[in-house]
Amino acid sequence: MATIKRIGVLTSGGDAPGMNAAIRAVVRASVYHGIDVTGIRRGYAGLINKDFWEMTSRDVGNIIQRGGTILRTARCDEFMTDEGKDKAYNNLLEGNIDALVVIGGDGTFRGARAFAERHNFPIVGVPGTIDNDLYGTDMTIGFDTALNTIVEAIDKIRDTASSHDRMFFVEVMGRDAGFIALRSAIGCGAEDVMVPEVETNFDELCSVLIDSVQKTKNSGVVIVAEGDDAGGAYDIAAEVKKRIPDFDFRVTILGHIQRGGAPSAYDRYLASQLGVAAVSALMDDQRSVMVGLVNRQTVLVPFNQTIKHHKDIDRKMLEMLYILNT
Ligand code: F6P
Repeated sequence: MATIKRIGVLTSGGDAPGMNAAIRAVVRASVYHGIDVTGIRRGYAGLINKDFWEMTSRDVGNIIQRGGTILRTARCDEFMTDEGKDKAYNNLLEGNIDALVVIGGDGTFRGARAFAERHNFPIVGVPGTIDNDLYGTDMTIGFDTALNTIVEAIDKIRDTASSHDRMFFVEVMGRDAGFIALRSAIGCGAEDVMVPEVETNFDELCSVLIDSVQKTKNSGVVIVAEGDDAGGAYDIAAEVKKRIPDFDFRVTILGHIQRGGAPSAYDRYLASQLGVAAVSALMDDQRSVMVGLVNRQTVLVPFNQTIKHHKDIDRKMLEMLYILNT
């Protein structure tokens, strides 16, 4: 067992609902084990600028239900340079920090791996991103809340769609991955979904839309992941309009409302579980690993694996969407 006297914790990359619950879990598990905690504000930028906060159990009271991150977050290019990493390392030494918990997504873990390789520093990652695109975990913190937000918004859009006999193209987040798009499409009964993982075929899309009109569905919703190969929702709607000029189309971009808001019960639970597991992993001498959840059990996945492997969408769910549209 490693003797860790002080753990540093930070959030990095896009904020995700449940990050606060994860910070709370890291702080309280550390305190429980007699370990001091330093909060690092604004991710890796805070490591470089020594923006440190001595945290106690009381500092994380009343935050489990809050969206965003009390530690703030940032994307930091300087940390990718050797000079940036060296500054960060000196600050960690000066702050008597023996190990780090980093909460974020793919970019966060890439930064952590590069830092750990240069300075041989113990780091454990907690997956926090609404995208759910990290290999080695079934779920990331924030995904469930984002889906609930999206489904609630689309239910409202559907009221207008059916009142006006309109088709809506709704763009959701997911620059590189279609997990949000696919799950929300099923959750709100969309007619079709466009994801980055599947090449967009306008003939097929138009035939789905025409078919749905022939079934006397006079309105509908198509979900578009922002990173679709054919462009965003505006581009796709414009192309469909050229092919089916009679349809009445509208476009809605949900944008950053998908990232904020109170975390769902599921995300609070997941964040608590993974935060506590991250502290235990450091105490067990684990380093350069992400704590993930597979089949409801916590697992440790080396950064190398989670960064190298691509997590694919479940393509059977695409077929399921069409079955459900019959
Ligand atoms: O990684 C989370 C995410 O929400 C992506 O889905 C999205 O493409 C990106 O962040 C948006 O980032 P920003 O807030 O910097 O615009």
